[in-house]
Amino acid sequence: MVSPLRLLAFLFLLCACSGVSIAPVPGPEAERGRLLFLASCTACHSLDGEPGGGPSLKGLPGSRIGVRDAMGKLQILTADDAYLIRAIIAPQVELREPWPASMPTWNGSPEELQDLLAFLKEHFSTQSVTAP
Ligand code: HEC
Repeated sequence: MVSPLRLLAFLFLLCACSGVSIAPVPGPEAERGRLLFLASCTACHSLDGEPGGGPSLKGLPGSRIGVRDAMGKLQILTADDAYLIRAIIAPQVELREPWPASMPTWNGSPEELQDLLAFLKEHFSTQSVTAP
């Protein structure tokens, strides 16, 4: 079992090195991400925003949300790229209120993670990223 602190340190490095940004990335990344999402995520997260085994992801990118941190404390944060990545590769470290820790840990490659992120932002974002 990897400790939450080590995971967070890893995530910090991952974000610092990958140059992940909040801007949506149109093109092949999002399309590859869509196929990954269909294969691994739609059992719990629908494409149309209906909640299922997991919360709806509609409107999530860039929104303000409440999560329980590893110590069980409620935190209000912005669902930026770093949060979306943490939610995918370490789902048990922070939990979206009031959902249980039932999301499986995902073991894809860093490239697949970028593809998923591109898809999530393209498909579920309801905000214009160019707006002030
Ligand atoms: C077995 C059901 C299940 C599967 C499969 C699953 N998830 Fe989840 N997911 C959940 C649950 C339950 C939560 C809420 C608890 C938490 O935050 O971990 C969640 C939370 C999330 C969140 C944070 C949502 C929020 O509102 O903050 C994201 C992003 C997410 N999942 C993405 C994915 C992606 C991408 C995949 C596929 C690679 C996936 N999930 C597969 C059940 C699932």
